[in-house]
Amino acid sequence: KRMKRFILDTDPGIYDALTILYALASPEVKMEAITVVNGNCPMEQGVINALSVLELAGAVHIPVAKGMDKPLLLPVVNAEVTHGKNGLGYAELPAPRTSPVKEHAVELIHELVMQDPGQINIVAIGPLTNIAMAVRLYPQIVGAVEHIYIMGGAINHCGNMTPLAEFNIYCDPHAASIVFHSGIPFTLVPLDVTYQTLMTAEDLRRFEAIKTPLSDFIVKASRYVMEYLSESQEIMGCALNDPLALAALFKKDLLEISPLVLDVDTNYGVSMGKTFADFYNYEQKPANGDAALDVKARDFVDHFLERMIKLSQ
Ligand code: BDR
Ligand code: CA
Repeated sequence: KRMKRFILDTDPGIYDALTILYALASPEVKMEAITVVNGNCPMEQGVINALSVLELAGAVHIPVAKGMDKPLLLPVVNAEVTHGKNGLGYAELPAPRTSPVKEHAVELIHELVMQDPGQINIVAIGPLTNIAMAVRLYPQIVGAVEHIYIMGGAINHCGNMTPLAEFNIYCDPHAASIVFHSGIPFTLVPLDVTYQTLMTAEDLRRFEAIKTPLSDFIVKASRYVMEYLSESQEIMGCALNDPLALAALFKKDLLEISPLVLDVDTNYGVSMGKTFADFYNYEQKPANGDAALDVKARDFVDHFLERMIKLSQ
């Protein structure tokens, strides 16, 4: 089976850092580059975090590019409460010795996709600003990207940013709208499924026993978000939001995925950033994307733990 190649578009971020490590731990996929966007933390901090995590994992060969530092129309929103002051919870990594590449994220996406049309996937686990910009600036990528896997949205689930909206989509709903209607095949991996995949405190104890810099990082980063989720949302564990979007690329059998008419509210009201599906096809439109609405949750967590434990030993 051929290795799935992908670009990780991300706002690192605790869940994002876990996804970078999960990618490095998975031989089924090849991460070609990391493109950074404003989201959990300001873009510049996200770049530092991406570089530091790669260095920690001994993967400095992976290019990191700076991307959009604000949403298309809306003012910047970050998530310091969820991810801590530097974006990685209780973990404090040394300043990276490496630097981002010269190209802008949007240029790097264009370059990589057009080098090998039909072969590059995008796993987008932050606000969709970089991807929307790439679609507008280089429309030729529309027919050339293999597929986009998006962590974002809440379909039959409440929001985690507002009562209705999920963080990534809420940050830049206009970008999400551009991507959903771009014609690039995409799969939405919303809170409906990611909030089922919980790494528990007991799971985390397995990393505590390993005692390497990598296991130490995983514990310190995850514990922070775990405390946040239990205090603010009564969720007892670290939801594996972003890692599950990567799993959609190479472990589809874990997810129940349906083709749907998907859209997002870009109006400036109470439901701004709400993603929704036209389940009864009121609008008589063809499906524009797929959404994962159910998951074999514990199977995924076990697979994730197995990979991450092996990597951190
Ligand atoms: C998403 O929002 C961010 O806080 C996480 O990194 C994840 O991508 C979950 O709603
Ligand atoms: Ca993220």
